[in-house]
Amino acid sequence: MQVYIAKDGLGAAALAAQWMMEAYASGSRRFGLATGQTMVPVYQQLVARVREADPSCRVRAVETFNLDEYVGIAASHPGSFRSFMENHLFIPLDFDRGRTHVLDGMARDLAQECQRYQAELDRAALEFQLLGIGRNGHIGFNEPATPWDSRTHRIRLSPETLEQNRDSFPGEVPQEALTMGIGSILQAEQIVVVALGADKTDAVTRAITGPRDLECPASALQDHPRVRYILDPEAGQGVLLSPNLQNHLEIIQHS
Ligand code: GLP
Repeated sequence: MQVYIAKDGLGAAALAAQWMMEAYASGSRRFGLATGQTMVPVYQQLVARVREADPSCRVRAVETFNLDEYVGIAASHPGSFRSFMENHLFIPLDFDRGRTHVLDGMARDLAQECQRYQAELDRAALEFQLLGIGRNGHIGFNEPATPWDSRTHRIRLSPETLEQNRDSFPGEVPQEALTMGIGSILQAEQIVVVALGADKTDAVTRAITGPRDLECPASALQDHPRVRYILDPEAGQGVLLSPNLQNHLEIIQHS
């Protein structure tokens, strides 16, 4: 596992965008994508870089799979993850929507929707998975205690997560979501986790330097052969101070 500590949030976002461009340049076409405030500067950087590299702004060959979506929220709702992706990435770069996959939280049969999505993921075999991390260590919407071999499933959101989401839903905050499982996430060939800010320090420190622990879903990533973290100095402060740094952990301070 490698941990990059960028100079600041913008540097972290720029590095994530650079690695996505590099993955594309070396042939990756199937990307797993994340949402959340952390991803706003990442997608801004990515849009700028793609536009610079390809002024026609078409990324027709890329296929994307989002990690999760709320249950009972229409794709057109401003708080949906589909809307987030449209606004921050798909519209600016004119993605081929037939190749952008987001779970349907309005599906009549949610169990069947999860099975359908997982089958698509199994077919696609993601080459690159972008991840954020929740303050309680969740990845996607895999809340603490989610089994590590879980596939795409329906989940009840934890009180902390509901609290974190309150701003996106002035009315009632959705209580449930559909999410790729931890097992589905671990299938990706390479994983890049981005975490910014002091409110992520604990989760990141536990995920990277703590024991593998069901209560910290991101610690499941310790078992993956190709994971890189990109942190800003605030999110990375606990990792730098940890007495439990494992031998295989490489920390790179990036300017
Ligand atoms: C949500 C998403 C996660 C994301 C996390 C962190 O719960 N389901 O995929 O990583 O929030 O979000 P933020 O980047 O806003 O802190």
